[in-house]
Amino acid sequence: MNVWHPLPGRPLSELDRKIMELERRGRKVPSRALLKTPEQIEGIRRSGAVNTGVLDLIEREIRPGMSTAEIDRMAYDYTVAHGAVPAPLHYEGFPKSVCTSIDEVVCHGIPDEREILREGDIINVDVSTILDGYYSDASRMFLIGEVTPEKRRLVEVARQCLEIGIEAARPFGFVGDIGHAIQRHAEKNGYSVVRELCGHGVGLAFHEEPDVEHFGRRGTGMLLVPGMVFTIEPMINMGRRDIFIDEADGWIVLTDDGLPSAQWEHTLVMTESGPEILTR
Ligand code: MF3
Ligand code: CO
Repeated sequence: MNVWHPLPGRPLSELDRKIMELERRGRKVPSRALLKTPEQIEGIRRSGAVNTGVLDLIEREIRPGMSTAEIDRMAYDYTVAHGAVPAPLHYEGFPKSVCTSIDEVVCHGIPDEREILREGDIINVDVSTILDGYYSDASRMFLIGEVTPEKRRLVEVARQCLEIGIEAARPFGFVGDIGHAIQRHAEKNGYSVVRELCGHGVGLAFHEEPDVEHFGRRGTGMLLVPGMVFTIEPMINMGRRDIFIDEADGWIVLTDDGLPSAQWEHTLVMTESGPEILTR
């Protein structure tokens, strides 16, 4: 069964021929449904603008002594004031509007009134927005006051991993090119890449095909075709890559060795000339 179907009643386009040939040679290709229309991309771009507004607000306001619940409230209030909805809220039972993940929390940290930011913490705030049915998803790291050089370096290398992953994403390249570049940079710096969680297609739903792994081999995974919208969101550990999920809530992901982890994320659209960031 072929994944790529030419449009019925129309002559084969250059794109059809290219993708059908790659599929015939055994490559994994996207279905046509994964290619967003220009109108859909505009919608995701507008959603991304609200999402960026939330992260910019948090960047201005975040400080020692603040609770992660306060961050959550800021995000919720800003989002609804802009006619949008936080995507995480009630998503598969997630109780809050953003994920707040401090130090050894890898991701999916749950904002809490009793969790107070302290000098020296590193925190990821992961924000996802639904506007007019269009989804966007991005996260940043924030340094709380004076942070040790070791943790600052982790945050910086994780940021470079996202940047390098974006550069590795080329039209008619492969998803595995992204993971390969990220893994190489992380490991060259003595860090490890979390394997259990990945980036994902996004736009018309929170999580779409393909999975975007942050490790792997060049030339593997799904073909990257202009019109595809997806996230890259590497989770980089200072120590070992192993993780576990807090059984009390079923959400919070932590490093096994208790060492810190850092993550940055953007939503991108692949164009004819390369990836464009929709959450800048
Ligand atoms: N923003 C996260 C992602 O990249 C979403 C976490 S799932 C949630 O997929 F339920 F916690 F929101
Ligand atoms: Co995501």
